Amino acid sequence: MYKFNSGYSELQVDAWFPTLIGVSFYKDHKKDAPNIIKKLKTVKSKCPKSIGESSFFLHPCHKDKELKNLNSWIQKRIDEYTNFYGFPKKVKPVESWFHWYKENNYNDAHVHLGRTISAIYYLQSDLEDSRVVFHSPVPVDMKNPFGITANDSKEYLQKDHSFTECFYKPVEGMLLIFRSYLLHKVELKKNKLKDRIIISWDLD
Ligand SMILES: [Fe+2]
Repeated sequence: MYKFNSGYSELQVDAWFPTLIGVSFYKDHKKDAPNIIKKLKTVKSKCPKSIGESSFFLHPCHKDKELKNLNSWIQKRIDEYTNFYGFPKKVKPVESWFHWYKENNYNDAHVHLGRTISAIYYLQSDLEDSRVVFHSPVPVDMKNPFGITANDSKEYLQKDHSFTECFYKPVEGMLLIFRSYLLHKVELKKNKLKDRIIISWDLD
């Protein structure tokens, strides 16, 4: 629980039930990324055509020896995150994959069902390309005091304790760690920018 100073002498505000998103930046990103991208490009070319226009490529990145250094760095950060949460046991990767987003690709709002922790690593992207958006796990505030409707998010009225979603810009080398139940989506890929490549892990 976190106690806030409300700014009023007779009112204390306690924050309970937080949403924790772990954020870290891989120091060796610039050195390691070119070889990892080259490797994933080869994997991608061998993936079955049935995947079609989708950006999704199922590949056990966490087991790939050519990604060894990155993988061990990701696992360490996830161990720190679950330790911060107070998990009694470490979580281990069950499945991993990568997304190679090209023009018009996006990823609709989803959760990673049946998993405990999920992680996204930004291998290649322009900062101004599509963001990942996390939705608040609090149920939809139907009769919200801001007058938010489906057509008007009135984002400008919301503050730290009333946001219903948050976003991260795609910074190369950034790792995001979150509980798998957290609803999230990736916006439509912007045109004329480099391909947006991310690696994703699910852990139990
Ligand atoms: Fe996801």
